[in-house]
Amino acid sequence: MDKFQTPKNRIRKLRVLSLGDKPCEFKYSGKNRNTTLIDLSSNDYFGLSRDKDIINAAHETSLTEGLGSGSSRFISGSRPIHKLLESNLCKWLHQDSVLLFPSGFQANIAAIQALADKNTIIIADRLIHNSLIVGSKASGAKLIRFLHNNLEDLEDKLSKYSINNNSILVIVESLYSMEGSIAPIENITKLCKKYNCKLLVDEAHALGILGPNGKGLSNPFLDSINIISGTFGKAFGSGGAFLAGNKKIGELLVQTSSPFRYTTALSPSLAAGALRSLEKIKNNHNLGTDLLSISKRWKKEIENIGKYEVIGDAHILSLIIGDEDKTLSLQKFLEEEGFLAVGIRPPTVPSGKSRIRLTMRSSFNTNILKNFVSALKAYK
Ligand SMILES: Cc1ncc(COP(=O)(O)O)c(C=O)c1O
Repeated sequence: MDKFQTPKNRIRKLRVLSLGDKPCEFKYSGKNRNTTLIDLSSNDYFGLSRDKDIINAAHETSLTEGLGSGSSRFISGSRPIHKLLESNLCKWLHQDSVLLFPSGFQANIAAIQALADKNTIIIADRLIHNSLIVGSKASGAKLIRFLHNNLEDLEDKLSKYSINNNSILVIVESLYSMEGSIAPIENITKLCKKYNCKLLVDEAHALGILGPNGKGLSNPFLDSINIISGTFGKAFGSGGAFLAGNKKIGELLVQTSSPFRYTTALSPSLAAGALRSLEKIKNNHNLGTDLLSISKRWKKEIENIGKYEVIGDAHILSLIIGDEDKTLSLQKFLEEEGFLAVGIRPPTVPSGKSRIRLTMRSSFNTNILKNFVSALKAYK
């Protein structure tokens, strides 16, 4: 046996989940059974990770460019596909500069490093993603949190900390990954202008779906935003990420960003897959709106059961259960009913706010919804 191979019993303990042939199914190899679950938990909103065109684009590129890039962008890792994806994103988003990163986590750390240092005060939404917290801490800046999506609290903090001409960076997500809530981006940009501070918006979950033709919720306000971060690991069904901004920010990142300079460049196949996904998203204007209609129907039907508090403004819905054990018990019950609906618990969400997080998919038909609602009704 290859000494790096994971022993079989270890895999079992980790619960092997692999994608089935259909875009919303997971094949599940549990301890005592082999079954297929409907996937209500991953962020492959349009099922593009299973799209044949996209897989073919990735495959063809890997045959000519290699699977991995083999080096950083500045050594020998740059490929024409990287430049092509960057320039297509620039055009699509109407941005001067787009730079690719191997992951959104890394991109967020780079974005904060470019906009903040130990003399900066970062004022961030209470519910930002862990990568943004890690990036804020790594920058050496002082980190202050404001109440989730609360403009009054944000303004209180801005007026308090903007005395003495402090350098301030505000960090928000456009669609929050666990709440499914939409940030009031326009009003946030107005406050940032009023208090003369910088703004970073993470569009990870909105990109491809929300905003004008899926360009993200911050797209109409680009002039007032310093950096936008996006990932290909969600609606794009690929992997990797990017930062977008003006020419000056682009140059600063190229010249000084260690998370950009000192890492193996994004796999050419993933870049090719992301580019093909971008074409699909651009050419199918209804993808996002159709997904939102599906989500609206799911929210209404689940609320109609009368037993569950459902939150979420777009394609991420959460059933707030509160207690951790109860959340796990519902997850287990749903699994037995054929659904992969993973419970999210602290520290990922605040204590007492454990939940079943549901991510909507273009492929969800009325039958899936009907069966899911029946399962929720049957749960005692
Ligand atoms: C809001 C948000 N930002 C950034 C990331 C990180 O993106 P990636 O998975 O590409 O590292 C995630 C992924 O979970 C996310 O939810």
